[in-house]
Amino acid sequence: MGKGPFWHSRAVDQSPASAAALDEGRARSKGVWDEMAAGWQRHNDVIWQASLQVGEWLVDKVAPEPGQTIVELAAGPGDTGFVAARLVGKDGRLISTDFSPNMVEVAEARAGSLGVSNAEFRVMDAENIDLADNAVDGILCRFGFMLMLDPQAALAECRRVLRPGGRLAFAVWTGPEKNPWVGIIGMVLRQQGYEPPGDPFGPGGMYSMASEEQVRSMIAGAGFQQAETEEMEVHWRFEDFAGFWTFLTELAGGIAVFLRTLSNPERDELRRVVEKAIEGFRDGQGYELPGVALNVAAS
Ligand SMILES: C[S@@+](CC[C@H](N)C(=O)[O-])C[C@H]1O[C@@H](n2cnc3c(N)ncnc32)[C@H](O)[C@@H]1O
Repeated sequence: MGKGPFWHSRAVDQSPASAAALDEGRARSKGVWDEMAAGWQRHNDVIWQASLQVGEWLVDKVAPEPGQTIVELAAGPGDTGFVAARLVGKDGRLISTDFSPNMVEVAEARAGSLGVSNAEFRVMDAENIDLADNAVDGILCRFGFMLMLDPQAALAECRRVLRPGGRLAFAVWTGPEKNPWVGIIGMVLRQQGYEPPGDPFGPGGMYSMASEEQVRSMIAGAGFQQAETEEMEVHWRFEDFAGFWTFLTELAGGIAVFLRTLSNPERDELRRVVEKAIEGFRDGQGYELPGVALNVAAS
């Protein structure tokens, strides 16, 4: 298709953004995720089935023990934390957090339906963790840090609230060349003459923490002594194109919000072009779009 590959890559933008621009970005992001919460509640299975292995890797690295306190940051519907909640048992506790109040409600409802009774739910910005120093044994954060406007501040907060020896495990996305599940829509939007929302390489962008080297240096900068990283494949499966379109329009963060601003004819035309663009990912059971997460454990 047209103007070049969807994996058009470039260096992560490390120029300092003004405080006002960061605040504006935070407010915009919070609005986006509040708006996404209903879709994440309805289609939680799509997300969890594709990324279950990443969640399990993170919990494995934090290795929660009975009686411990584990925090999940940017928890969304909360499933990664719920795996940890089972391991800490009735004497332990999960603190499930997100900066979107609507997402926190989704997680709380989901805990109710799963019978998770040792969790509390708090609206909290990971860049400013409302917990005392040395208060927790482990921290989980799946696909959250790269969306934060100042992830370095959030990492420093993690180090502050973790007790000595406590572990942090998180996952972010590698670059667009390895993530057609999300890269392809950006490409189609540009080819159709739209400006996709936000800079995916800039602060808060999907690929803002795609470089392992940069992530390692951020972790060291936050005061962690050790870090382990591992790339992990994620397979997004959709029974049919309608499933992928639902994913784009109800779950895909800023992209979904952008698609809602289009007129019906514009959206219909885009839908037709996207269906053509993902033809190469069709197999006998529908569509499978690959992605690669960068899993990180630090202590
Ligand atoms: C892509 S979703 C991931 C949700 C969940 N962790 C998962 O893996 O399914 C990103 C989540 O990060 C949250 N988030 C983004 N920036 C945040 C911040 N600064 N503090 C707390 N939560 C944040 C959003 O509200 C959203 O729920």
